[in-house]
Amino acid sequence: MAAVIREAAALGPGLRAVWLEAPEAAQAAVPGQFVMVEGGPRRITRRPFSVSGIDREQGLIRLLVRVVGPASAWVGGLSPGQPVGLHGPLGRGFTLPPAGACAWVVGGGVGTAPLLFLAAELRRAGGAVWAALGGRTADEVVGADELKRSGAGVAVATEDGSAGERGLVTTLVERRLAGGGPPPATVYACGPRGMLVAVARRALEAGLRCQVSVEERMACGVGACAGCTWPDGRLAPDLALRRLASSREAPGEGGGGGPLRVCRDGPCFEVVRA
Ligand SMILES: Cc1cc2nc3c(=O)[nH]c(=O)nc-3n(C[C@H](O)[C@H](O)[C@H](O)COP(=O)(O)OP(=O)(O)OC[C@H]3O[C@@H](n4cnc5c(N)ncnc54)[C@H](O)[C@@H]3O)c2cc1C
Ligand code: FES
Repeated sequence: MAAVIREAAALGPGLRAVWLEAPEAAQAAVPGQFVMVEGGPRRITRRPFSVSGIDREQGLIRLLVRVVGPASAWVGGLSPGQPVGLHGPLGRGFTLPPAGACAWVVGGGVGTAPLLFLAAELRRAGGAVWAALGGRTADEVVGADELKRSGAGVAVATEDGSAGERGLVTTLVERRLAGGGPPPATVYACGPRGMLVAVARRALEAGLRCQVSVEERMACGVGACAGCTWPDGRLAPDLALRRLASSREAPGEGGGGGPLRVCRDGPCFEVVRA
C-alpha cells in the first residue's frame, strides 16, 4: 500500500511527528497497532512504528519518530507530498476497558506514542485517564501537553530532574498506588523493558490488570520470518505475556510461557504471573 506524507513537524530534538494519508489504515487501526514503513533513496526495508494518532475523517495516521539511525532519520525527515510504502495496521492492539472506565497509561520516552492514541480513544469513550511519563531528560518526555489538552491527569519524572520530578516514572506509579484513590480498570505501559517489568510487577501486586506493548527488532512484521520471536514468552522470570483478543481476531491459545512472535501475537500483551 502506498501512502503520502500530509504533514511533518519537529516536536523536539530528534523527535518528529509525521502525518500520512492512509485512509484504509486510519479506518482500521486500533490503539497499540503498528505499521511497517518502507522505501526511501536507500530502499530501506520495512521498519515498525506505532500508530500514535488518527484522523478518521481526513484518512490520516500519525507516527511519532525518534531518530536513532538511518531508517528513523529517513522516516522522520520525510516532507509533505512524498510517497512511502506502508503495511498495516499490524499486530494486536490493546484491549480497551468498558466505556467510561478509568485507566492509567505509563510511557517511557517514545514508548508513549501508542499510548497517545489509546488515551484519545479512552477519553472519547468518556473514560478518566491518568498518565505517568518518563525519560532520561525533558527532551525524551513525549506527549505531556497533548495528554493534558485531552483532559488526562499527567505526572512527569525525568532522571536528571529537567522536567517534572527527579527520578523514575515507576516512582510516580508507586505513589499513585499508595495514594489510595480509585483504582484503574487497567494499567497500560510502553517503554524500555526494565520499566515494563517494574510497572507490571507493581500493578499485579496491587491486584490490577496490566497490558504492555513490547518492542523487538522486526523484519517482516506479519509473523512470517520468526525474527521477532520471544522463545519463552516471558517479560521477566516471574512475568509471562499472554495474547490479547484483538478486535478482529479470536484470542490465541496460550501465551503465558510459550514462544511468541511479537509482531503477530503482540506487540500488546496482558502480563500475568508466570
Ligand atoms: C512494534 C514497534 C513499534 C515501534 N514504534 C515506534 C514509534 O512509535 N516511534 C519510534 O521512534 N520508534 C518506534 N519503534 C522503534 C523503531 O522501529 C526503530 O527505532 C527503528 O526501526 C530503528 O531503525 P534505524 O535504522 O533508525 O536504527 P538502527 O540503526 O536500526 O538502530 C539504532 C539503534 O536503535 C536500536 N533499535 C532499533 N530497532 C529497535 C527496536 N525495535 N527496539 C529496540 N531498539 C531498537 C538498535 O539496537 C540501535 O541501538 C517501534 C518498534 C516496534 C517493534
Ligand atoms: S518480524 Fe517476522 S515474524 Fe515477526
